[in-house]
Amino acid sequence: MSETTPASSDNAQIGRRSAGLPPAAPMNSAAPVNSAVSVLADVDPHLAEAVAPDREIAVEVGENLVEVKNLTVKFGGLLALDDVSFTIKRGEILGLIGPNGAGKTTCFNAMTGVYKPTSGDVLLEGKSLKGQKQHNITRLGLARTFQNIRLFGEMTALENVVVGLDARHKTSVIGALLRLPRHQREEKSAIERGMALLEFVGIADKAGILSRQLPYGDQRRLEIARALATDPKVLCLDEPAAGFNPAEKEELMVLIRKIRADGYTVLLIEHDMKLVMGVTDRIVVLEFGRKLADAAPVDVRNDPRVIAAYLGEPEDGTA
Ligand SMILES: Nc1ncnc2c1ncn2[C@@H]1O[C@H](COP(=O)(O)OP(=O)(O)OP(=O)(O)O)[C@@H](O)[C@H]1O
Ligand SMILES: [Mg+2]
Repeated sequence: MSETTPASSDNAQIGRRSAGLPPAAPMNSAAPVNSAVSVLADVDPHLAEAVAPDREIAVEVGENLVEVKNLTVKFGGLLALDDVSFTIKRGEILGLIGPNGAGKTTCFNAMTGVYKPTSGDVLLEGKSLKGQKQHNITRLGLARTFQNIRLFGEMTALENVVVGLDARHKTSVIGALLRLPRHQREEKSAIERGMALLEFVGIADKAGILSRQLPYGDQRRLEIARALATDPKVLCLDEPAAGFNPAEKEELMVLIRKIRADGYTVLLIEHDMKLVMGVTDRIVVLEFGRKLADAAPVDVRNDPRVIAAYLGEPEDGTA
């Protein structure tokens, strides 16, 4: 099965809203047709600017942003990820699916520096991430959320986001202690950006609430805001809809489209097929640590090997 080329790969641009440019077309016909367009119409351009003031604009959509190359992760005798390769193109929403234990989270962990791969490599904008520490990988542009929410429960929603922004601060510890003007300026802009991010994910009215007191759905949104605070090139979401009811899943789909419409690239692990099929441009399927398929949602949905993997039926060898 071959990879699809996004329909908008020719000369579309990201950061379109900040640049005052018209939105790019949705990336393939299987994705909801009006996604980027309708969302762009809904969002205040000043908010987008506040969310990511330094983001690059006018970068080609469709080039390889991430290359996962022959990635292998062994846990003792268990091959959790077995020679997996795929690319993430700039501006797309790529789904990563597979049955429980297929290796999806392991793949995220190996990409984001949580685990050191046994072999293989991950390139971000052509540069190897080999040997890079987790925080460096975040700084270079790969941000993620976790399957099990990891927030600072005793901090407010806003503080949780400002923690993500802190990675970008330039003042020294001494500067912060002495509350030098630069530090004060940064603190003010961090709060403004933090609020803009909370507004972006739809929970600005809960900025002052301790994160552990937030409803579950809002905690998931907060995790996304915190990951966006690092100004990532790629946002990796690990089962962001876990535990959601259908209405919350719909809202999450809108948010993921809004994130892409704002120029981010998204890698999405998700079990809910309606959500995955509705929001992704392309899907990579893992099974027992190996890549089983890499295709447009419509092709993945009709692939007998994928159906068999999910239903637990033996492969018929015809696909
Ligand atoms: N730290 C670890 N030590 C040992 N084995 C692990 C570790 N992490 C994952 N595994 C194993 O690796 C395999 C892949 O796990 P992984 O969590 O990546 O699957 P997944 O596709 O994310 O599944 P799920 O849909 O249930 O989240 C599983 O067999 C799992 O038990
Ligand atoms: Mg997982």
